[in-house]
Amino acid sequence: MKTLVAYFSHVGENLQNNEIVELKKGNTEVVAEKIAALTGADLYKIEEDEPYPFKYEDCLRRARREDENNEHPAMKGGVRLNIDDYDQIYIGFPIWYRTYPRVVATFLETYDFSGKTVYPFCTNDEGTFGISLLEMQGVLKGAEITDGLAIRGVDVNDSDGRIRSFVGLL
Ligand SMILES: Cc1cc2nc3c(=O)[nH]c(=O)nc-3n(C[C@H](O)[C@H](O)[C@H](O)COP(=O)(O)O)c2cc1C
Repeated sequence: MKTLVAYFSHVGENLQNNEIVELKKGNTEVVAEKIAALTGADLYKIEEDEPYPFKYEDCLRRARREDENNEHPAMKGGVRLNIDDYDQIYIGFPIWYRTYPRVVATFLETYDFSGKTVYPFCTNDEGTFGISLLEMQGVLKGAEITDGLAIRGVDVNDSDGRIRSFVGLL
């Protein structure tokens, strides 16, 4: 059995230290690549079919609409992952509106995670998972969900120690 790192990350304007900054590479993607490099896991990027807006305010508006209506936006490429190949799955996302983006909700509800060990990680501006872990526990009932790793976006390049410890290398 293999290990997978599945993540969503947004390229464009983002919130960092409560200020709008433009990211060339998403914060969650930085962490996902580090985890894959340390564990030898396969890397899978969860993408939305209809791109989230580049501009922060527009993205926030869409995130709010999707959150309020509990939308499940389609994933680009549809169902193309063979989840049965993996028994350990890292799942990464930014915190949007105190939880994971709705396209990650689509991902979690599309595949069957029962019997798998799930290692959640997130990046954020405020330092916490918000309600995302609670929400994930409600959806992935048959999976074992471990303690997660939450990293502030501004800290992703200074978090190698925490990441190594998260993957069991420290
Ligand atoms: C639409 C949107 C909503 C956000 N909502 C929150 C939030 O509720 N709490 C928080 O701490 N950070 C929030 N942020 C900041 C992101 O979680 C943070 O910048 C994260 O590191 C972005 O990761 P990414 O570059 O991989 O997309 C939000 C960012 C965006 C774009």
